[in-house]
Amino acid sequence: MEKVKIALLGLGNVGSGVWKIFNTNKNEVSRRSGCEVEIAKVLVRDKFKQRKVDVPPDMLTTNPDDIFKDESIKIVAELIGGIDPAKEYILRAMRSKKHVVTANKMLLATSGEELFKTAEEEDVYFYYEASVGGGIPIIREINESLTANKIMEIVGILNGTTNYILSKMSKEHMDFKAALDEAKEKGYAEADPTSDIEGYDPVYKLAIIASLSFGAKITVDDIYREGITKITPLDIKYACKFGYTIKLLSIGKVCPDGIELRVHPTMIPKAHPLSNVNDSFNAIYINGNAVGELMLYGKGAGDLPTGSAVVSDIISILRNNGSQYICTSLKNHMPHKKIKPLKENISQYYIRLSVIDMPGVLGEISTILGRNNVSILTVTQDVKSKHDVSLIFITHEAKEGDMQKSIDNIKKLTCINKVESIIRIENFNE
Ligand code: NAP
Ligand code: HSE
Repeated sequence: MEKVKIALLGLGNVGSGVWKIFNTNKNEVSRRSGCEVEIAKVLVRDKFKQRKVDVPPDMLTTNPDDIFKDESIKIVAELIGGIDPAKEYILRAMRSKKHVVTANKMLLATSGEELFKTAEEEDVYFYYEASVGGGIPIIREINESLTANKIMEIVGILNGTTNYILSKMSKEHMDFKAALDEAKEKGYAEADPTSDIEGYDPVYKLAIIASLSFGAKITVDDIYREGITKITPLDIKYACKFGYTIKLLSIGKVCPDGIELRVHPTMIPKAHPLSNVNDSFNAIYINGNAVGELMLYGKGAGDLPTGSAVVSDIISILRNNGSQYICTSLKNHMPHKKIKPLKENISQYYIRLSVIDMPGVLGEISTILGRNNVSILTVTQDVKSKHDVSLIFITHEAKEGDMQKSIDNIKKLTCINKVESIIRIENFNE
């Protein structure tokens, strides 16, 4: 059996998962790849750090030359994250004629073109299944299994950390910080969790899968972004009362007037399958014009699920069965397509206001909404005191631009203490 040496760049959450899989599933890896795979070197920042896995000390290095200058190493898995030095290391690996596997969605979504161009020039494989959906094989699904389709819509829960936080807040009434701390401890969160909680991470992921699905060059700037930091236990309580669950959804839709792209907290009906995707699980709903609707579900973060995707990519390279399929899909000659402006999006809205209890308040607010073509479906009032009354409106479908104009005017009313929250509602044409 052919012996192949590989190297890992990084031995954090994902790197440790990859190490464990190579050790526990050694026979499966050999049988499926036809090769005896040896992890020859592991690049880290600190050789003396306490690790979750027992890696022989002489295998660890802090010197990247030990990997890039070693011609016997054929494949490099980049599991450092971020841009610097991950990008430089990937480019160096490719220029040293090594195939590369990465889990780095931030880098792919922001510098993908340059990386794919270099992979092509150097004639090396560049695979990235772990970059979206952790253990869910979404990239292969889009690039191989669904190629007969025009994909019209993708709606996903693409971030494990925020889904974990929202699930814990909803089901166990845990507070935001405690839930985030647990997600960090379990290895779901990014090194800087701002990327998760402010929605940057799912934006990177949506940019990757929307580009592949819609055959268009989609950049992070094309995607509207809102994170979950403004979601309060009170909003979760009201969502539940009205029959909804709050999820951080990533939405891509091909519409007659352009591609709709947005990541934001969304109220979805409790009965919808995405509503029951909890903890670190991710799910991606896809609508193709031939296959119809399908949904992929699995663990979207964590050492072993993500490691599963990384190791599968390595096996694919060793089998040499991937051709440049995956590489070609994100190349720079993808056309730009029209992106639908957010203000044209149509949605229902949940609006929570804190107001002063005085005659005419409801009338003033509903007049503003009506004048801007926003029709009210329900109003709920909760009186805390004469000076602090919660008014919760659920609207019929309205244009985002009309809603924004309404809110700008509502903020100017003297009876308004604060616009506490505005959350979009997706009813999925129910
Ligand atoms: P992590 O736990 O922070 O691990 C990063 C590793 O990279 C550490 O071992 C660190 O070394 C090493 N490293 C950092 N800077 C370095 C440098 N300048 N030179 C050499 N080594 C360096 O990160 P992670 O959670 O494993 O994530 C890695 C990548 O996978 C990221 O791109 C992330 O977005 C992606 N990803 C993560 C998950 C997940 O569930 N965590 C899921 C999918 C994708 P030390 O250990 O010595 O500090
Ligand atoms: N931080 C990411 C998440 C890791 O929570 O989903 C998986 O990409």
